[in-house]
Amino acid sequence: MEKQEKPHVLVLPYPSQGHINPLGQFANRLVSKGLKATLVTTIFLSKTTQLVSGSVGLETISDGYDDGGFAKAESIEAYLDQIEVVGSRTLGKLIEKQASNGTPVKCLVYDAFFPWGLDLAKRYGIMGVPFFTQPWTVNNIYYHFYHGLLKVPVLDPMVSIPGLVPLRLEDLPGFISSPASYPAYLNMILSQFSNLEKADLVFVNTFEKLEVEVLSWMAKVFPISTIGPTLPSMYLDKRIEDDKNYGLNLYKPNNSACMNWLNTREPGSVVYVSFGSMAVLGDEQMEELAWGLRDSNSYFLWVVRSTEEEKLPCKFLEETSEKGLVVNWSPQLNVLAHPAVGCFVTHCGWNSVLEALSLGVPMVGLPQWSDQPTNAMLVEDIWGVGVRAEINEKGMVTRKEIELCIREITEGNRGKEMKRNAKKWRELAIEAVDDGGTSDNSINEFVLKLVYN
Ligand code: UDX
Repeated sequence: MEKQEKPHVLVLPYPSQGHINPLGQFANRLVSKGLKATLVTTIFLSKTTQLVSGSVGLETISDGYDDGGFAKAESIEAYLDQIEVVGSRTLGKLIEKQASNGTPVKCLVYDAFFPWGLDLAKRYGIMGVPFFTQPWTVNNIYYHFYHGLLKVPVLDPMVSIPGLVPLRLEDLPGFISSPASYPAYLNMILSQFSNLEKADLVFVNTFEKLEVEVLSWMAKVFPISTIGPTLPSMYLDKRIEDDKNYGLNLYKPNNSACMNWLNTREPGSVVYVSFGSMAVLGDEQMEELAWGLRDSNSYFLWVVRSTEEEKLPCKFLEETSEKGLVVNWSPQLNVLAHPAVGCFVTHCGWNSVLEALSLGVPMVGLPQWSDQPTNAMLVEDIWGVGVRAEINEKGMVTRKEIELCIREITEGNRGKEMKRNAKKWRELAIEAVDDGGTSDNSINEFVLKLVYN
């Protein structure tokens, strides 16, 4: 393709790390396929972060809170209202600017959390494609709820949903099992389905063999293009030019401390612990986790964001200095890919799960909210690559439970089986994104659609 003829795609993530990573990496992959891709972030985030990757363009829109972002909004509702009103207006201006600069936009790939992206795309006569950052199992639950096929509050102990195994109440996404706790997020989640039938394509960050039944059930209703896992190719045994790293870090990783420390450890001897970018643990839960890690007697690398640090029990760092390293943010992909790491204690955010699965690392799940309980169920019951920690009657995971779950993976026979399963899932993830794999084919079909439309 000649340079000026490259179809131009704008990629709009929800402005948080767990959404910027998969959509940003998808933009990298589009560039590696010969398209021009521009990642659209908010003015506030562009002031506080740096784009690392060079091949994807970066543009900004306003979310209505240019001096402080989400933290400055009065409520979640206020933030979501503002980003829809101000965001769609400024995104419209950006689309016009690109046209007058000679790089007209042919398609808007928007985070499915922003269904207004499709209305905007249609208004400008360009393709509009929602990108779902969570597994289709979770979206299938939301889909049934949206269409009134699943009633809340859920009263039955087990829930049957077409395409899925029967689910326990506690395995449903937090927004469904306790709808009163997050009304604004629940509305946002449900609005993903409000205009889906008008979308030109539907992208999901998963791969076919990972969710065979639910994807084939959904295919009868509307087709879905699986394009995941969106890990940079180098973590999937490939080195594709322009597909090197996630590109936009909202936190500064402590690279050398983590990697130097891991380099001194035996293969499979380290437990990596991280709860992603948003989860907030209660003081007591943090304490149980800390002592559970100590009692597991394993080496551990624990990411405790600076806002959570004060919850560490006093004397913990002192007492465990021989065994553990605590950092505020890690280069997670490099950590999970390191041979020293043999177990991942995770909140089961979808990116973390896909990353661990693609890098063959078994997991201990301590899900917190949103899609995480369902993801943890998939990890243990469907894919056999981890265990989910049991919550006691006080809503806590005790230190003993944490210790036992870690030991089950690092010492038990079940742990060996999980490692074998994890290896198998890694191979299937690589197969999906490899040349001619199901996810690679979905992206190629999209590229052809853009080139010939
Ligand atoms: C959120 C939701 O909580 C999650 O459930 C949803 O599926 C996506 O959005 P988050 O909680 O941040 O995301 O978790 P996760 O999905 O795991 O994403 C975190 C990302 O940050 C991962 O890509 C991970 O590699 C990265 N990360 C995390 C780091 O690079 N360093 C760290 O120290 C921790």
